[in-house]
Amino acid sequence: SMGNAEAGEKAFNKCKSCHMIVTDDGTDIQKGGRVGPNLYGIIGRQAGSVEDFNYGDDLVAAGEAGLVWDEEQLAAYITDPREYLREYLDDSSARSKMSFKLRDGGADVAAYLASVGPD
Ligand code: HEM
Repeated sequence: SMGNAEAGEKAFNKCKSCHMIVTDDGTDIQKGGRVGPNLYGIIGRQAGSVEDFNYGDDLVAAGEAGLVWDEEQLAAYITDPREYLREYLDDSSARSKMSFKLRDGGADVAAYLASVGPD
């Protein structure tokens, strides 16, 4: 991992308005909003594939085209989700339902998210 998970846990405060981290058996690791999908186990997961979350079409299309989140891709995505999807899909009109951009510390947040999953 290229990031510092402890620093990333603190930076995750910026994500909590929209994202929670809840285990499969319902244990809250991070209480948070429901505007975005649950991020438990997001590293290693196909993009746009959390059950029952109403994604935008373009994130689902990226997942169907083969995007699986690893730390590097997740850090790039959260820096500018719309631009990331435009590049991934090679489609200058692609849209993202996540408009938040994390200016820096993306590698740390990605390292933190890698530490909160089933493995
Ligand atoms: C999607 C991470 C902040 C709203 C996602 C995804 C990731 C992510 C990895 C893709 C999930 C998947 O493919 O299942 C983060 C992180 C944040 C952050 C690490 C903080 C640094 C926010 C904030 C909001 C938000 C503040 C709301 C204002 C959303 C929404 C989606 C999403 C609506 C779905 C995007 C779509 O369907 O196009 N986020 N997020 N996120 N996030 Fe965030």
